[in-house]
Amino acid sequence: MSFNKIQIYPATVLEISDLVRLEQVFTEYALSSQAFHYLIQRAKPCVWVAAQGQRICGDMVLLFFPSKQITRLYSLVVEPSQRRCGIARALLNAAEHLALEYRCPLLRLEVRADNFAARHLYENSAYAYTEYLADFYGKDQAGWQMSKHLLK
Ligand SMILES: CC(C)(COP(=O)(O)OP(=O)(O)OC[C@H]1O[C@@H](n2cnc3c(N)ncnc32)[C@H](O)[C@@H]1OP(=O)(O)O)[C@@H](O)C(=O)NCCC(=O)NCCS
Repeated sequence: MSFNKIQIYPATVLEISDLVRLEQVFTEYALSSQAFHYLIQRAKPCVWVAAQGQRICGDMVLLFFPSKQITRLYSLVVEPSQRRCGIARALLNAAEHLALEYRCPLLRLEVRADNFAARHLYENSAYAYTEYLADFYGKDQAGWQMSKHLLK
C-alpha cells in the first residue's frame, strides 16, 4: 500500500530490530523481539511497517477477531524525528483498509487519557470515545477506548 509516498507493507523478521527500536518510546508495555517474532508468524499479517525510501519510520500492530468482526489497533508508533508528516494517518488509513478486507469493520483501540497527540489523530479520523478506562495503564493512569465502525 502507498499513501503520499509512504510505503506500508507487512513486517518480516528482517524488520524486527527496527520494530523493537521504535517501541522504545513506550517505557512500559513495549513489545519485545519475541512478541514480534510471534506476531509476524500469524496467518493474517498483523505487523505493518511504514517506510520512506529505505527508512522504516513507523509501525502498527493489528489484531483481527473475525467472529466478533472487530479489529483491534494494538500498537501504533512513529519515529520521533518523522512525526507530523502524516505517517500515523497513513498507517491508520491502511488499518481501515485491512479491517474491511478481513471483514472486521469495527476498529477499536485504547489510548492513554494524557496522550493528546494520539487522541487528536483518532478524533480527527472520526473515532468516537466509547469507554473511559480508569487505571487501565496502571494506578491513576486512565485510558479511553475509542472505536470507529467502518461500514456506517
Ligand atoms: C501519536 C503518533 C502516532 C502520531 O504520529 P504522527 O505521524 O506524528 O501523526 P500524523 O503526522 O499522521 O498526524 C495526523 C494528525 O494527528 C494529530 N496529531 C499528531 N500529532 C499531534 C500532536 N503532537 N499534537 C496535536 N495533534 C497531533 C493531528 O490532528 C494531525 O493532523 P495535522 O498534522 O494535519 O494537524 C506519534 O506522536 C507517536 O508515535 N507517539 C508515540 C506513540 C503513541 O502514542 N502511539 C499511540 C498509542 S494509542
